Amino acid sequence: MVKNSPSAGRVFITGGAGYIGSVMVPILLSEGYHVTVLDNFRYGQNSLLGCCHDPRFEVVRGDCRREDLVRELIRDKDVLIPLAAMVGAPICDRNPFDATSINQQAVEMLVRVSSKAQRILIPNTNSGYGIGQKGQPCTEESPLKPISLYGRTKVAAETAVLGRGNAISFRLATVFGVSPRMRRDLLVNDFVYRALTDHAVVLFEGHFKRNYIHIRDVARVFLHGLNRFEEMKDRAYNVGLEDANLSKLELCEAIRRVLPDFVFTEAPIGEDPDKRDYIVSNGRILSTGFRPEYSLEFGIRELIRCYRMGDGVIQTNG
Ligand SMILES: NC(=O)c1ccc[n+]([C@@H]2O[C@H](COP(=O)([O-])OP(=O)(O)OC[C@H]3O[C@@H](n4cnc5c(N)ncnc54)[C@H](O)[C@@H]3O)[C@@H](O)[C@H]2O)c1
Repeated sequence: MVKNSPSAGRVFITGGAGYIGSVMVPILLSEGYHVTVLDNFRYGQNSLLGCCHDPRFEVVRGDCRREDLVRELIRDKDVLIPLAAMVGAPICDRNPFDATSINQQAVEMLVRVSSKAQRILIPNTNSGYGIGQKGQPCTEESPLKPISLYGRTKVAAETAVLGRGNAISFRLATVFGVSPRMRRDLLVNDFVYRALTDHAVVLFEGHFKRNYIHIRDVARVFLHGLNRFEEMKDRAYNVGLEDANLSKLELCEAIRRVLPDFVFTEAPIGEDPDKRDYIVSNGRILSTGFRPEYSLEFGIRELIRCYRMGDGVIQTNG
């Protein structure tokens, strides 16, 4: 049943048909928001079909770099959420023009054409903490100095948005979990796939630590930011599970607790483009009252149910 209650606000989301957007959009609709998605559907995804029944949902197939289109679509919106991006280091390295123009310049344009009264919430990657303070937990004050083009364009977008003001940036840990636009090229999603199908994985940089967060907690933290915008605005927030600052080996051990026939071994077969090896402190977002609800084990079990449907449901940005 579609709710008849008054609108909670009008939200414009670029890239709303992506991995994160396809989970976030239905949640925003269910909370009473009107949601307009601008997406070029570059992966041929059908991930928002379940939203079409809702009269509060609008969708436009188009490019977030088109200033005329963006100006027109944001005119009556209260909130702007730029998710559209070339996501991940490999796809950015293969498409450097798109990486810069979508991840960075389109956000700079959005900053320029929006009114200051419009609130902006943007996701950033925390991968740039990788090169920095070994051994010490990274806070939002730690230098974010990514090496990869992906990381650099995302940090530039965050800088533009926070520089404008009336905005929040969420520095997301590596996201895991199931979405209607399913991505396998994310560490947890990939390892669970391999554990289930190959029963084995060969790790590089197995002792390097990272932080993780479930995709539904990502959608929840955006909602939290909308609900507490005035007290949270004009800052960046790390968003990860406090109890999941795990090395790749520890992640594999967590998967093996659910899939006991999984074997893993280490070999010097690769290198992380952002040299990610860090522990993240999520103290700032926790101090605003946000609590993640989904554990790593929950996500592993959810991913297993997803992969049992076969490879037809999976996409990759790799
Ligand atoms: N998934 C993660 O682990 C993670 C972590 C940190 C930050 N983020 C950020 O979250 C956002 C969403 O990531 P995701 O995981 O959903 O990735 P995704 O690749 O699934 O989604 C990106 C979406 O943008 C759309 N898009 C691409 N180019 C476009 C263009 N020119 N015009 C309009 N739409 C376009 C794609 O069709 C897709 O729907 C990105 O900004 C990403 O940098 C993701």
